[in-house]
Amino acid sequence: MRTLLIGANGQLGSEPRQTFSDNDLVLLTHGDNELGDRSQVWETLHRYRPCLILNTAAYHRVGECEDLPECAFAVNAVAARDLAIATKEIGAVLVVSTSVPIMSLTAGSAAPTGRVICPGR
Ligand SMILES: NC(=O)c1ccc[n+]([C@@H]2O[C@H](COP(=O)([O-])OP(=O)(O)OC[C@H]3O[C@@H](n4cnc5c(N)ncnc54)[C@H](OP(=O)(O)O)[C@@H]3O)[C@@H](O)[C@H]2O)c1
Repeated sequence: MRTLLIGANGQLGSEPRQTFSDNDLVLLTHGDNELGDRSQVWETLHRYRPCLILNTAAYHRVGECEDLPECAFAVNAVAARDLAIATKEIGAVLVVSTSVPIMSLTAGSAAPTGRVICPGR
């Protein structure tokens, strides 16, 4: 099974590198793939055609995010949404990481249960 690991050189990304080492694992660093570049992400997904995408990339240097909220929103919200759309297009499964519980998976609906805050908006 081909798996795409986005954020491969990050702290969280280092764990699946070991867990999925027996699989067809494609490692993508920030240098390989700019999440904010929708066309590059689309091209990457269509080139590798993975079954599973693990996205551990995030823009979360707190000081920078506070100074540049539009950058944080572009990567962590818009690009994450675009990745989900592109994943659906190729029929793959997307796994994302977050430190904040935002969805209720037990209530039988996808209704957000937490607040998503974009500083400065
Ligand atoms: N580490 C944990 O124990 C842990 C636990 C629970 C949840 N999380 C969540 O998991 C996510 C990642 O955490 P982490 O600790 O692994 O962070 P990290 O070590 O900073 O890794 C984040 C990775 O994302 C890449 N990245 C940043 N902006 C990007 C962009 N625009 N396009 C492509 N790649 C980009 C970074 O590359 P560059 O450094 O080259 O920019 C880096 O490799 C965060 O949302 C965090 O809250 C982490």
